[in-house]
Amino acid sequence: MVLYRTMFEESSADGAAHIDADTAVLAEIARLKRERRALILAHTYQLPEVQSAADLVGDSLELSRAAARTDARVIVFCGVRFMAETAKILAPDRTVLLPAESAGCPMADSITAEDLRAFKARYPGRPVVAYVNSTAEVKAESDWCCTSANAVKVIEAVDSPEILCVPDRNLARWCQRNTSKKLIWWDGFCLVHVRISAEDARSAKAQYPDALLLAHPECEPEVLDRADHVLSTSQMLSFVAGSPARRFLIATEAEVVWRLRKDHPEREFYTVGPARHCANMKKTRLADVARALETGKPSIELDPDLMDRARAPIERMLTLS
Ligand code: 13P
Ligand code: SF4
Repeated sequence: MVLYRTMFEESSADGAAHIDADTAVLAEIARLKRERRALILAHTYQLPEVQSAADLVGDSLELSRAAARTDARVIVFCGVRFMAETAKILAPDRTVLLPAESAGCPMADSITAEDLRAFKARYPGRPVVAYVNSTAEVKAESDWCCTSANAVKVIEAVDSPEILCVPDRNLARWCQRNTSKKLIWWDGFCLVHVRISAEDARSAKAQYPDALLLAHPECEPEVLDRADHVLSTSQMLSFVAGSPARRFLIATEAEVVWRLRKDHPEREFYTVGPARHCANMKKTRLADVARALETGKPSIELDPDLMDRARAPIERMLTLS
């Protein structure tokens, strides 16, 4: 597992390097961070300028773990709402700030708690594994959580031959290929990942036959068919760090390609098809981070009873690895 401490960096979402971070705002963030005893967490899909201000950059699993163990008083979560909610659930006595209040995840919002109760009623007795990309209300109705980094491991740990998986159908299909258990899934998907097509993967492979194709499990099964490895975002970064290969094709959100080019300037990284960006992940700007630290808003507020119910499936997952 790799956690990234970032410095002031060149910025590019799709490869052309340019300086983008405002040094004055970065200095203000550093001052406020010390004053508020804050920890800044950023997902790997965040803009480079935001990654440059973070204490830790990682995937959903790493960021959840960091939230669970921090003694900081304030957690600034540069990501989308379900991630900040997860941090709040794991650190209920901390202030958790989501600098871009409207940063949501359409996949997480594709199933409500009521939808899930109806789904469970259709398949009684089957435990529910909720992808961490889900609302606190859906987690509270679930037995286990998983992330893209540990989904197969979680499925194998669940004591049942049949399991309900929500909300991502592609993550569930990927798990289905890797387990003998019967999985029944919700029809949710990520708009960013499903735009990467099998034809994109085929032509990238044809253009760079010696390159390794790394794909996120939210991609369509036909893309995963062509992948050399199926990995979470941070697993991609760790995999490349440990691989002797020179050239990689990356099927996930485009900021990961920026990160890989920055970390390994001597190697080649290409998106699979056009660069795909998650609009919600790009809502957070450095100025929002500074404002959140200054004002203590917007903060995540959740009902204590809801948090207790949502914590159980997340903690069950965290005890696994
Ligand atoms: P990771 O689990 O790799 O962080 O991915 C989260 C996500 O939202 C992917 O779209
Ligand atoms: Fe949600 Fe997809 Fe954005 Fe991830 S990339 S936060 S799954 S919309």
